[in-house]
Amino acid sequence: MKKSVTQLLMKIYGGRADAHLDLYGLSNQHRHKHGRDCDMYPSDPLQAPLWRVVASLTHPRRILEVGCGHGYTAAVMASATGPGCHVDTIEADPQHAALAEQAFQERDLSRRINVLHGRGQDILPRLKGRYDVVFLDGDWREYPRYMPHLRRLTRPGSIIVTANLNPLFGGWGGRLRGKPAIQSYLTRLVRDPHFYTYIIPGEWHSISVRV
Ligand SMILES: C[S@@+](CC[C@H](N)C(=O)[O-])C[C@H]1O[C@@H](n2cnc3c(N)ncnc32)[C@H](O)[C@@H]1O
Repeated sequence: MKKSVTQLLMKIYGGRADAHLDLYGLSNQHRHKHGRDCDMYPSDPLQAPLWRVVASLTHPRRILEVGCGHGYTAAVMASATGPGCHVDTIEADPQHAALAEQAFQERDLSRRINVLHGRGQDILPRLKGRYDVVFLDGDWREYPRYMPHLRRLTRPGSIIVTANLNPLFGGWGGRLRGKPAIQSYLTRLVRDPHFYTYIIPGEWHSISVRV
């Protein structure tokens, strides 16, 4: 997105996209230090208002994230909900998990956000109960393997937001591997009678509701 458009949107939001912005900055700082293969790309702060919209639609008690990074989105999601909502966030890189746990402690969010150490494909089969909101923001090559768990771990009315679709459609990550996995995941999700799905062109996220 053009810098001028970002600035205009931030002005329009007037502070409503500013929650935990320091964690966004720390995520980028860490990636630059960590090295070329580090994939700690925090979500755009312009997506932060989405979580208040999702929270007011679902009144979540439980949120699940795959791909915690430094904890930016988990903190934003926790703050967008009431104190009765718990966030489980899965992180494969032990260094990232440790940074996020420290960040949650510093923000007094440790009791509300739990970091599950490991890969999404290994942790999801072990999870129980229903989540009201699921945010997929990790390795897109695993997404097709998540399908049966997304069904099992949601209830009618749950919302699933899937990020990292760009490698299939263009923009960031256009040269990265895993296009067939994204296409297979989206095709299955869109055709699955348990979900209605909207793919946001340009933003390359999808939003699904469990029916
Ligand atoms: C795009 S960042 C997510 C950042 C975070 N959601 C945010 O917006 O601030 C991706 C994170 O997912 C982690 N990750 C990558 N593949 C994963 C997987 N298969 N399971 C769990 N975590 C994964 C990476 O180590 C990285 O920290």
